[in-house]
Amino acid sequence: MDGSAKRNRQPHINITLDLRLKGAPLFFAEKISRGLAQGITTFKLRVKSEGEACFPNICTPIAGMIDYFTLERGCTFIPSKSWQSNQLLAHSGILHPYSYNSLSSPTTYLNKVWKFTRSDHFEVVNGIIDSVRRTAVLPSGVAHGLELALNEVTDNILYHSLREANSPDAVGYVMVQYHKTNQRIAVAVFDLGQGIPSSLASGKMTFDSKESALEAAVRKGVGDGTGGGNGLWMMERIVSSSHGSFELTSDGARFACRHHSDCEKPKASVSSVSQIRDGTTLVDFQLHIDRPLDLVLALGAAHTNLWLEDHSVDATHIGSAAEALLVSVSDESRGCASRYEAQFFATMVGNLMEEAPGLCVLDFSGVETVSASFADELLVRLIRRFGIVSVIQRIAFRNLSSINAAIFNQCFEGRLPRNP
Ligand SMILES: Nc1ncnc2c1ncn2[C@@H]1O[C@H](COP(=O)(O)OP(=O)(O)OP(=O)(O)O)[C@@H](O)[C@H]1O
Ligand SMILES: [Mg+2]
Repeated sequence: MDGSAKRNRQPHINITLDLRLKGAPLFFAEKISRGLAQGITTFKLRVKSEGEACFPNICTPIAGMIDYFTLERGCTFIPSKSWQSNQLLAHSGILHPYSYNSLSSPTTYLNKVWKFTRSDHFEVVNGIIDSVRRTAVLPSGVAHGLELALNEVTDNILYHSLREANSPDAVGYVMVQYHKTNQRIAVAVFDLGQGIPSSLASGKMTFDSKESALEAAVRKGVGDGTGGGNGLWMMERIVSSSHGSFELTSDGARFACRHHSDCEKPKASVSSVSQIRDGTTLVDFQLHIDRPLDLVLALGAAHTNLWLEDHSVDATHIGSAAEALLVSVSDESRGCASRYEAQFFATMVGNLMEEAPGLCVLDFSGVETVSASFADELLVRLIRRFGIVSVIQRIAFRNLSSINAAIFNQCFEGRLPRNP
């Protein structure tokens, strides 16, 4: 009998999940508790329907629980055929969350649940933000706002989820999705730590209820005393300024803030919810990406945009304004062979150009040959996004080899109507 046949014959509990339901993580947690109470540690996972959506606020807590119960309670989770044949689920990392690996970088960090600790937190968050910048067309301020909010919320897990701040044992789970149709970025960040009320209590902050503890945690300057108490406030300000929504669910309490329509002020509400387990924190937020985000207005002060700084160079020697953007094509494009990669590269360059007016230099040094399809896609995407005049005025190609120059020229000619 092979290993999987043996596992299938073990006493097990079937769990059929409807991943479209917000209650799926709680249903899942209850099934596991019931199994453990009966001494059963094997669970077979099924999904209710084909082509299942797999949203971050549902997948991330389930992935975190599977990881926790596997490592801490010796449970085994077996995917059924329906689960294995679902492509979204098979690559989602719900059964085995992805971990950062310096030797192999995925083509995208999106649509996957990532597990992080303090040793790879930076790489995971950076990988996610980089993937968003390459995938979604973002108006000014959005990429930076997302980066700030995601950093704050994930950093909180390292600093507050366990009693010891910045413990090497603190573990978090994060998933980010780009929803093109409704123009949103959806984020969920989860941990199975002590929960917000308990962390605040450790800082001698007492509240009438867990709900009021959550409400307070979002206020400026409120925290357990190990930090400034501003991270969740920043996240709230960024999300509200983008007319997005967020929910903070911790230790059986929920604080939610929603924009029901564009003109309305966001509506905040608190409620008590059934608990997955004592403690645990889920931060679930969505940013709109169909409008610019004014971070100075949202936060009352400018925050350094490191991505922009990393690409800014003095450009007075080329007769431009004091600063220009510089993008090294060989460093920032994963190859220059395909139309597919040109899409990502053009999206990223365009997003960078949204962040600062003025010249953007694309430096082709080190790039032997671009393919005709890469050249064509890059030009067309940039012209479609900014218009031909802006492209001529704002983008400069530098260090193009003669062969690359010829390829770009040919692409452009190919797009012109033939001479009669
Ligand atoms: N994942 C979490 N687990 C437990 N407690 C949390 C978690 N996230 C936030 N908290 C609690 O909420 C408080 C407020 O968080 P917030 O990010 O606003 O401030 P801070 O982390 O204390 O300071 P700063 O983010 O300015 O460095 C924290 O001090 C902590 O008590
Ligand atoms: Mg914080």
